[in-house]
Amino acid sequence: MAQLIDGKKISQEIKDELKEKVEKLNAEGIEGALAVIQVGNDPASSVYVRNKKRACEYIGIRSESYELPEETTEDELLTLIETLNEDPKINGILCQLPVPAHMDENKIIRTIAPEKDVDGFHTQNVGALVVGQKGFVSCTPAGVIQLLKRSGIDIAGKHCVVVGRSNIVGKPMALLMLKENATVTICHSRTADLKAVCKQADILIVAVGKPKMITAEYVKEGATVIDVGIHRQEDGKLCGDVDFEQVEPIAGAITPVPGGVGPMTIAMLMNNCVEAMTR
Ligand code: GUN
Repeated sequence: MAQLIDGKKISQEIKDELKEKVEKLNAEGIEGALAVIQVGNDPASSVYVRNKKRACEYIGIRSESYELPEETTEDELLTLIETLNEDPKINGILCQLPVPAHMDENKIIRTIAPEKDVDGFHTQNVGALVVGQKGFVSCTPAGVIQLLKRSGIDIAGKHCVVVGRSNIVGKPMALLMLKENATVTICHSRTADLKAVCKQADILIVAVGKPKMITAEYVKEGATVIDVGIHRQEDGKLCGDVDFEQVEPIAGAITPVPGGVGPMTIAMLMNNCVEAMTR
C-alpha cells in the first residue's frame, strides 16, 4: 500500500503556521490585505474566490472583493489594478483567471505590480524563479514542493518527470524541482513514448488536465505520484489525471483527489500574502 500524501492535513498545518505569523506581524503594526478581483461569474471561479477569501479570514488577512460584471472593459480592469498597485494598504492583488475573452490575460498579469503579484504569474517573478532569485512562486507548484518535503520524500538526486508544460504549473514545477536538485524531464502532448519516459520517474508529477490518463503502465514500482488534475466525473465524483485505483498499489506514495494538491494551492497563496506583508 502506498503512503497517502495528505494535502488537507499539510495545508492546515501551513495555514496554522501562517496564522501565528500574521498575529506577530499585527502586533508589530503590520496589517495584511489582499485584493481579489473576479470578472464575470464563472461558477468554478466563484468557488475558488470564495475559498481564497475564507482562507484570508482564517489566517487574519483582510480581503477586499472586486466583483466586476462580464462586460467590464479591459481598460476599466487595468485602471482598477493600477489604483490597487498604488494603494499602500493593499499588499497583494489577485485577478482570478480566466478573464473574459475580450481581455488580454497577459496584459492584465503584466499590469499587476510584481511586488503585489501573490499568484507569481508576472514575468518578473517567473524570471526570478528561472535565475534562482527571490520572488513570488506560482502557488500550485510551490504547494507540491511542500507536500513532498513535509511527507519526508527526498527530492535531491531523484529523477522527476513532470507531465504538462503550462506556465502556471508544469514549467514552474520543473524549475522548482531543479532548484531542489532533482534531475528533471518535462513531457507534453508531443513527447514520444510518454509511457516509457514516465516509467523512469522516481517522482512523477502530472498536470495534463485529462481524467485518469495515467494508468498503471506509466508508473515505476515504488514511485511517488503527484496528481495535480481535478475533474468532475459523470457520477458526480471527483477524479484526477491519475487513475488512482490502478496506480495506488504500485506507487510508493501518492496524492489523492480530492485532498491532495488542491488544498495546497490556497495555503501557498496565503504564504505569498504573508510574505507580501513583510516586503
Ligand atoms: N485560475 C485557476 N487557478 C488560478 C490561480 O491559481 N490564480 C488565479 N488568479 N486564477 C486561477
